[in-house]
Amino acid sequence: MQNQEIRTFGRRHGKKLSARKLWLMDNILPAISPKNIKKAGNLILEIGFGNGEHVRDLAHNYPDSLVVGAEPFANGVAALLSAMCDEKTNEILPEYKNIFIWPDDVRDYLRNTDSLFSQIWVLHPDPWPKARHEKRRLLSADFLTMLSTHLSRGGQIIIGTDHWEYFDWICEQIKTTKLKYSTPDLETIHTRYQEKNKAGTTAPKYIIIKK
Ligand SMILES: C[S@@+](CC[C@H](N)C(=O)[O-])C[C@H]1O[C@@H](n2cnc3c(N)ncnc32)[C@H](O)[C@@H]1O
Repeated sequence: MQNQEIRTFGRRHGKKLSARKLWLMDNILPAISPKNIKKAGNLILEIGFGNGEHVRDLAHNYPDSLVVGAEPFANGVAALLSAMCDEKTNEILPEYKNIFIWPDDVRDYLRNTDSLFSQIWVLHPDPWPKARHEKRRLLSADFLTMLSTHLSRGGQIIIGTDHWEYFDWICEQIKTTKLKYSTPDLETIHTRYQEKNKAGTTAPKYIIIKK
């Protein structure tokens, strides 16, 4: 992360990782860095995947695409690795061989790649509800504009949040850019954070930005 950049995520480490998860972090994670993507193909990105349930859904639903997940929270990365790998052999399960993990700030990844994505997902970005933390919100006009430069033709950014004030704030941010967006009623996409529904709203709201 560049020094002048404001940190948009909370903690990087939670409770101590099990021996198996530590092994996966040391032995599997380096091999599935998106830096190792050589073949051309359809790319999908998920930013801030938490424990990675939706990354796995994407890998499953788009077996011919490569799915890149970015998440700086080590325990989330370890949880995804654990679910991707066979419990006995620790080998990556066949249905998850198209997953690549960037275990850090997505901005560091994006500024060093010219990859274009057909879908970029951001589900339940940290809402940073206190006014003094607003500057930590990831989905600013500048970030969304930069993100749109990584969309392939016809590609889309899909954002979901149950924090309706953040939802309105994101819409206001988009209005200050040249980006076109819609707010469709999508069926709820299930993630761990959505199930906790800390905001106490009745349903997440979605924003789609299309190139
Ligand atoms: C509220 S959680 C939601 C996790 C997951 N998407 C879900 O719905 O369960 C937001 C996640 O975004 C991650 N995050 C925040 N800033 C990020 C950044 N700059 N790059 C990548 N991930 C980031 C945080 O670490 C956190 O895990």
